[in-house]
Amino acid sequence: MLQILTIMLLEMQLYAVSALFTVDVPQQLYIAEYGSNVTMECRFPVNGTLNLGLLTVVWEQKRLSQSKSKEVYTFRNGKALAPSQHQDYVGRAVLLHSELKVGRAVLQITRVKITDMGSYLCLIDYGGVDYKYITLKVKASYKRINTQVMRKPGEDKFVFMCQSEGFPLAEVFWQNKNFSLGGSANTTYTLTADGLYNVTSILMFKPNMSESYSCVFWNKELNEETSAHISPLALMSTQHSGQKSLILFIILTCVVVAVLLSALVIFQKRKSVKNGQSKKGADFHSQPDALHLSAVMASGDSGSL
Ligand SMILES: *[C@@H]1O[C@H](CO)[C@@H](O)[C@H](O)[C@H]1NC(C)=O
Ligand SMILES: *[C@@H]1O[C@H](CO)[C@@H](O)[C@H](O)[C@H]1NC(C)=O
Ligand SMILES: *[C@@H]1O[C@H](CO)[C@@H](O)[C@H](O)[C@H]1NC(C)=O
Ligand SMILES: *[C@@H]1O[C@H](CO)[C@@H](O)[C@H](O)[C@H]1NC(C)=O
Ligand SMILES: *[C@@H]1O[C@H](CO)[C@@H](O)[C@H](O)[C@H]1NC(C)=O
Ligand SMILES: *[C@@H]1O[C@H](CO)[C@@H](O)[C@H](O)[C@H]1NC(C)=O
Repeated sequence: MLQILTIMLLEMQLYAVSALFTVDVPQQLYIAEYGSNVTMECRFPVNGTLNLGLLTVVWEQKRLSQSKSKEVYTFRNGKALAPSQHQDYVGRAVLLHSELKVGRAVLQITRVKITDMGSYLCLIDYGGVDYKYITLKVKASYKRINTQVMRKPGEDKFVFMCQSEGFPLAEVFWQNKNFSLGGSANTTYTLTADGLYNVTSILMFKPNMSESYSCVFWNKELNEETSAHISPLALMSTQHSGQKSLILFIILTCVVVAVLLSALVIFQKRKSVKNGQSKKGADFHSQPDALHLSAVMASGDSGSL
């Protein structure tokens, strides 16, 4: 229905009813950071005080991959038309009404998503009709890079891993200082639910333990680089603490064994005392558990004999 209306309005324009009315864009291309807010602007002539009742502003979005456009915001004869707004923009897209009186139709989109990318049509009817297109690009920097080093079991090679999320797709390079570590990295990606690229790069090689290495995420389209450093020494320190806990384990085991052995020696002594003397009731009544245990041990001994 909106499209029919749009066509009608355009036909009106074709018949030169309002040849003088023009919409201008101060900026044709906007690049917004994923999750940030963006405002895009169209300008139209207002002569004197604005008559809101005569004003209609339509913002529509169209992605390259989609044939149908989405209604972002419609303001008709002084009122916002909420029901026809596409659900992708509900609660995120508003027209800054205070700017209308100076002839600015400013669309604000908050918490920008990857799917907001595309071409935006800004159509204004105010005594005459005109429209312009604005392009919105969205970028997400590969800001947080997760790193990991593992030793390949049974080899002196190490597995280095870097993982990060961003948009558009980045290439990953590995470096040692300023030298490129060519070729053998395996870089793969998946798409997250938010449309970001989840890029993982794995490099397996034998590092110089005294040097540090870095992975560089190159966002080609934006010519933006982010990097993280990995040192094989980081792994050594975890191995070191691993050895520490092994030593602690051995010490604890020794202590436990020593305690058990001395307990056994005491029981053996008790047994010999018990066998050598007549039962001293008072002495054993004060330690009923010990009595029971030594009795069990004694019966076990006699059983095995
Ligand atoms: C984006 O806009 C919303 C609503 O106007 C505001 O609460 C938020 O602070 C803004 N965020 C940034 C990063 O400007
Ligand atoms: C603005 O409005 C005044 C009268 O209100 C008129 O004389 C003038 O021509 C108008 N200018 C334009 C550019 O439309
Ligand atoms: C690497 O950097 C050092 C100085 O830090 C420089 O001397 C050397 O020529 C550089 N090597 C390459 C391949 O750029
Ligand atoms: C790269 O890694 C993926 C998944 O980890 C694996 O399926 C693929 O075979 C690997 N490619 C090479 C060339 O090692
Ligand atoms: C990205 O991929 C890694 C494994 O390659 C996975 O552990 C992580 O959960 C993924 N992150 C998201 C947001 O999908
Ligand atoms: C490892 O790096 C150190 C310092 O950069 C260098 O002196 C040493 O020769 C390197 N060792 C090997 C085996 O390349």
